[in-house]
Amino acid sequence: MQEAEKIWMNGSLVNWADAQIHVLSHGLHYGSSVFEGIRAYAADQGTAVFHLHEHLRRLQRSASMYYMPIPYTFEDLRQAVHDVIAVNGLRECYIRPIAFRGYGTMGLFPLDAPVDVAIAAWEWGAYLGDDGLKDGIRAKTSTWRRIGSSTIPATAKAGGQYLNSILAKIETHKAGYQEAILLNESGYVADGSGENIFVVRGGQLLTPPVNASILEGITRATIIELAKDEGIPVVERELARAELYIADEVFVTGTAAEVCPINEVDDHPIGEPGPITRRLQERFFAATLGRDPRSAEWLDYVAVPEQAQR
Ligand SMILES: Cc1ncc(COP(=O)(O)O)c(C=O)c1O
Repeated sequence: MQEAEKIWMNGSLVNWADAQIHVLSHGLHYGSSVFEGIRAYAADQGTAVFHLHEHLRRLQRSASMYYMPIPYTFEDLRQAVHDVIAVNGLRECYIRPIAFRGYGTMGLFPLDAPVDVAIAAWEWGAYLGDDGLKDGIRAKTSTWRRIGSSTIPATAKAGGQYLNSILAKIETHKAGYQEAILLNESGYVADGSGENIFVVRGGQLLTPPVNASILEGITRATIIELAKDEGIPVVERELARAELYIADEVFVTGTAAEVCPINEVDDHPIGEPGPITRRLQERFFAATLGRDPRSAEWLDYVAVPEQAQR
């Protein structure tokens, strides 16, 4: 990974190498952490964090679902994100806030463990590759089902639940595909290992509803808004696996993956990225760069000192 210089940890900016925790930290053993993935873009008017407000609100909601009090206010966290970008002189970056049960107690009752918070930022390019964004990727349905919402709240973004995604990702990677698609316990399409999924059929944009064991993706919400702007009908409904095979277009969305076309599912060709995928991709990237009518409401500009810029 591309290291930066400083990480914000429990209220201070520390050197990258010094942002360490004890091996007996609760979060390491039981996955008792909540986190976010956020991107800042080199927009025309300067470095801008995309949907910072929504990401921090989701972090707070994830923490509250696990009875984890984050010992910082929303404004403290927002300032910390700004500080970590500015001090590292990052023009564009991926930002990873994490709150986790720290060192002090073992066992499954976590409420006596301290809650530690860290925010790191570093340069991280296209998650599914630049070629993936341009030409699309090959995806495969995993044999692992998405964890059901009666097992773990899918609407929280918590560390432990990602073991589910990791199994699916490894399985499909070993089979030679670039991304995994997971079905939920009912056998309907849920999402990608780290993305939400969209299908175009007959001019309509279809995506699984929030009760299909999905994370309520912020990029998903962005794409729904943009589609509505474009007059594309959006339907949130259960999707059968085979609907992916006969789709006109398929793409996935996420902060890391951005808006990435899928050109093949389970060896069924979908074809080149289609016009709706392309249009929404175009609007999405324009929005991140401050070139879309939506940009003003979605971007939070950071003052990055000129001389510090990497
Ligand atoms: C399982 C899963 N679904 C969807 C998403 C996309 O969410 P967002 O667009 O908020 O990054 C992510 C990424 O965080 C994810 O891990």
